[in-house]
Amino acid sequence: MDFRFDIIIEYLPLLLKGTLWTIGISILAILFGSVLGLGVSLGKMSHRGYLRWPASIYVNFFRGTPLLVQILLVHFGVVPLILGSTNAIVAAIVALSLNSAAYMAEIYRAGIQSIDQGQTEAAYSLGMTPGQTMRTIILPQAIKRMIPPFGNEFIVLIKDSSLFAVIAAPELMYWSNAMRSQYFKVWEPYLTAALIYFILTYSLNKLLGYLERRV
Ligand code: ARG
Repeated sequence: MDFRFDIIIEYLPLLLKGTLWTIGISILAILFGSVLGLGVSLGKMSHRGYLRWPASIYVNFFRGTPLLVQILLVHFGVVPLILGSTNAIVAAIVALSLNSAAYMAEIYRAGIQSIDQGQTEAAYSLGMTPGQTMRTIILPQAIKRMIPPFGNEFIVLIKDSSLFAVIAAPELMYWSNAMRSQYFKVWEPYLTAALIYFILTYSLNKLLGYLERRV
């Protein structure tokens, strides 16, 4: 077996371009996912059934079905329905955001419910509304506790974005597959991809550890 460094060098620009897409898709998904997820988690904790039920169904659907199936549904179903044609990047961002929102919703819920009930009662006794209490008392404290699971979620998104190779979104895994098909080589593309993913998640982990110690 000869390990061909020359084809890695040849593909490196494409792999790095793919890595940028991997990072970009993951960042957008974590942003959209956290906004949507907050809404879903507030819905899930609501006392009103017409808010709680849809939120609950949402979380159960996206956590109970494979991400791969959701990606295919969005790519071949939802995006063509709305845009009139398929678009792998749009599908990737939409599918990953929707999926992440369900997991983020549970992260918010766990964070919010970990704040002692007495604080809510104290805020109410000062005449604060439920909205004010949530915004000024509960969320600022809960957010600190959400940093570690939030970071884990980001790492999961980076790794799971590799699934987008199946819809030919030009991210890291897509270019690794292209390299394998062109040269009929396995170790070169996939070990390189593994190394790049590892560098991404490892540095993110370090960064999160640092952030956590600071807050
Ligand atoms: N990979 C698993 C799946 O296919 C889990 C996805 C986890 N997603 C997340 N946003 N944490 O369903």
